[in-house]
Amino acid sequence: MEKHKFEELKTKDKIGVLFVCLGNICRSPAAEAMFRTVVEQRGDSARFELDSAGTTAYHSGQQPDKRMRVHALQRGIRLEHVCRRVQADDFERFDVIVGMDASNLQNLRQMAPSVEAARKIVGMAEFFSAGSRYDCVPDPYYEGAEGFELVLDLLDEACVNLYEELTV
Ligand code: 4NP
Repeated sequence: MEKHKFEELKTKDKIGVLFVCLGNICRSPAAEAMFRTVVEQRGDSARFELDSAGTTAYHSGQQPDKRMRVHALQRGIRLEHVCRRVQADDFERFDVIVGMDASNLQNLRQMAPSVEAARKIVGMAEFFSAGSRYDCVPDPYYEGAEGFELVLDLLDEACVNLYEELTV
């Protein structure tokens, strides 16, 4: 895990974090809910504004994918998000915009309205623990149960590491 320059955020009253994937029905709503669990467990909810969005509008208005809801619930995490697409003002509202894979990052960089806005974009894999075999959170949509479990395992460690980078 590389060290990030989140120093200026640590003094803010509220830190906005937006999690982004392609469809906003599998990976990013799970990341949002997992990160929310981390901050709740640490009694730090008031300091965070959290949301998730997709680079496409394919599933706008839908609830998260049933398979992801079932796998997350097995870990005690309830997904209650309503799917939406990334919009221009997200780059103002949020301090950190976290893409799940290289394609999400490329799309986000194309959407960023300014160089300053583009600096808010980071990859979730930057928060995997050192020595991880993965360099992204892989799309589970066409995978079986093990694909969803892998996503949740990767998000579990990345959310804790991201929280620590933003706060410690
Ligand atoms: P997500 O997964 O990006 O993790 O929400 C996907 C959801 C839907 C599709 C692809 C990936 N799709 O092609 O509809």
